[in-house]
Amino acid sequence: MRNIRLPAHVAFIMDGNGRWAKKHFRPRGYGHKMGVQNMIKLCSHAFKLGVKIVTVYALSTENLSRPQEELDGIYDLFRSYFQKQKGKIQELGVRVNVMGDLTPLPEDVRGLLLETMRDTAVNAPNGLLNLCINYGARQEIIQAVNHAVAFGRFVDENSFKSLLYSAGMPDPDLIIRTGGEVRLSNFLLYQAAYTELYFSNKMWPEFSRRDLEKALVNYSQRDRRFGNVKKG
Ligand code: FPP
Repeated sequence: MRNIRLPAHVAFIMDGNGRWAKKHFRPRGYGHKMGVQNMIKLCSHAFKLGVKIVTVYALSTENLSRPQEELDGIYDLFRSYFQKQKGKIQELGVRVNVMGDLTPLPEDVRGLLLETMRDTAVNAPNGLLNLCINYGARQEIIQAVNHAVAFGRFVDENSFKSLLYSAGMPDPDLIIRTGGEVRLSNFLLYQAAYTELYFSNKMWPEFSRRDLEKALVNYSQRDRRFGNVKKG
């Protein structure tokens, strides 16, 4: 992995937990449990390799319409990783930032997320981990437009970006989606205008460090022209 052009910002659409669980004759909640374990393993590997920002799609605005039982299981995973096992996230040595509308979440979960952001705000030498929770790109864009209107301002690209959850961050260089679907599903639609996309047929819990490295090598071979012509 040395001497390759690494992306500074990688985002993951962690799809396939449910199908992976089904394949192993286990309930969907088990798939999510293994999914979080894999998320921590892969984020840690990405930071170790030198990626500076990792953004994960943990729960979409649309996911909030899933059966309450499944959502309760996911909220319990949040409780576990931000309270009982919080060391696992803190060991990453990164600042945790949450992107999304936290208002519909159970109050204790919301509190734990805000606490995690506060506790990791300083002394995070290894980078930044964005957790997208009840995140939807359309909701994010509409909220930004409404803020601009409320301020009575016209916006340009820079000022508009400062109204998004990702204010102050560089756009993702690479989005990796597992689970075999080839779409963005309302993820980072504004920020992904020139992002390289990588799709894997592996289900999220089985996407390995080696698979991540393959994706990074593939990225390093892309010719990113940003609409320009090749120089030289
Ligand atoms: C996609 O798989 C996964 C989700 C909708 C939820 C992912 C959530 C986590 C891994 C929890 C994150 C936890 C922390 C602590 C940040 P799917 O259920 O859509 O899979 P399927 O397409 O196979 O049904």
